[in-house]
Amino acid sequence: MPNTVLIGAQWGDEGKGKVIDVLTEDVDMVVRYQGGNNAGHTVKIGDDTHVLHLVPSGIFRKDKVCVIGNGVVVDPVALMEEIQGVQDKGVDVAGRLFVSDRAHVVFPYHRAIDAAREAMRSEGRKIGTTKRGIGPAYGDKVSRIGLRFADLLDERFAERLSLNVREANGILAGLGADSVNEREIVEQYRDAAARVAPLVADTVVLINRAVSEGKSILFEGAQGTMLDVDFGSYPFVTSSNTGAGGACSGTGVAPHRIDRVVGVIKAYTTRVGEGPFPTELRDEIGALLGREGHEFGATTGRPRRCGWFDAVVARYAAMVNGVDFWAMTKLDVLDHVETVRIAVAYECDGKRYETVPAHGDVLARCTPVYEDMPGWLETTSSVTRMDDLPAAARAYVNRLCEITGVKLGLLSVGPSRDSTLRVEL
Ligand code: GDP
Ligand code: IMO
Ligand code: MG
Repeated sequence: MPNTVLIGAQWGDEGKGKVIDVLTEDVDMVVRYQGGNNAGHTVKIGDDTHVLHLVPSGIFRKDKVCVIGNGVVVDPVALMEEIQGVQDKGVDVAGRLFVSDRAHVVFPYHRAIDAAREAMRSEGRKIGTTKRGIGPAYGDKVSRIGLRFADLLDERFAERLSLNVREANGILAGLGADSVNEREIVEQYRDAAARVAPLVADTVVLINRAVSEGKSILFEGAQGTMLDVDFGSYPFVTSSNTGAGGACSGTGVAPHRIDRVVGVIKAYTTRVGEGPFPTELRDEIGALLGREGHEFGATTGRPRRCGWFDAVVARYAAMVNGVDFWAMTKLDVLDHVETVRIAVAYECDGKRYETVPAHGDVLARCTPVYEDMPGWLETTSSVTRMDDLPAAARAYVNRLCEITGVKLGLLSVGPSRDSTLRVEL
């Protein structure tokens, strides 16, 4: 398979974990390039459901190499717990899971600051973060005070950490929150460092060597385009470049080594956390989508907000990521809907928008312009060929591709590997 970046095209939880697991069959290496354990990627194999936060979703294909790239922020304690969970399920990661020595370390003070800032924000301004310390960890990285895995394994680790703890406790005091205990962190992280050490590698060289040898790489995006710190619904976003561009800076692979981009997109829309969501349904249909789609956050367990497919968002995601193919998921969740709606544009203050406006307050006031299509009211979850889909379902999928100008690469009609129609991927 050509070197492929896979991104989320909406507000996250599009089903990236499932699609990565399916596509991993045809690649040599799977690389996470941004985000941290705010991500929750679900892989269903047989009757077992696995939720991954930091470990790439290719890990269940036993001969594949998995890499956590330099662009990811990693809580080593959480990582070791997650690895333990994977190993308890009989999956051996030794010699095939690596963490970048350039990846930044998430510390307890990052989580404490994340939570304290959220608590300080007034209603309507809260981001609804996962409280995993992601924003403050990326903040330290950009402020050039972050500690990386290379530092974690260095003998001067405690000394460097001390400065950061002092500064963090100053911030926490300013936010009216409890301080963190330096000695406890040193002990906990020394222990984690000893356990994580065998996995730490110069992944920039590791991945580029694989590229030079002609191996195929699958870059696993986390979150989604509308949560991208530059292109998303700022400030209701995460703190990294979730889009295809992030794959280069988050791994050290040059842009011309990447052959194509796959956008994972739900056949409707969900969002977890706060912030604008033009096609949100606060009615019985929204509740039905949540129920049929089991729309609860894989990381925090929060109910996800549900709404109609937003073609304005999808077109925008296709543009900023250069999406070549859609991997469209969860079509089966719409099986019980009589009429399906697609937002083709927005209106705000008498103005029509064909693309996502930059200003969050404008996006929040936008009302969708809908196009309606008949539902199919038939079960699609057992379909294995496009020709066997109900005609109305096929028409809906074709229309989504037509409006967004992107070809269908893969269609998913259920959480497991079998419920996948590989059209062009
Ligand atoms: P990710 O963050 O993009 O990896 O997505 P999540 O794992 O957070 O959420 C997607 C959810 O939908 C998971 O529970 C998946 O098992 C499930 N899922 C994925 N594809 C499909 C599908 O085609 N149909 C149904 N019904 N569920 C799916
Ligand atoms: P995956 O990879 C859905 C959301 C949070 C919050 C905002 C900022 O599973 O698709 P953060 O903790 O990152 O500072 O929170 O981003 N968020 C996600 N929403 N899926 C995710 O990841 C998310 N990761 C973060 O709910 O609104
Ligand atoms: Mg998720």
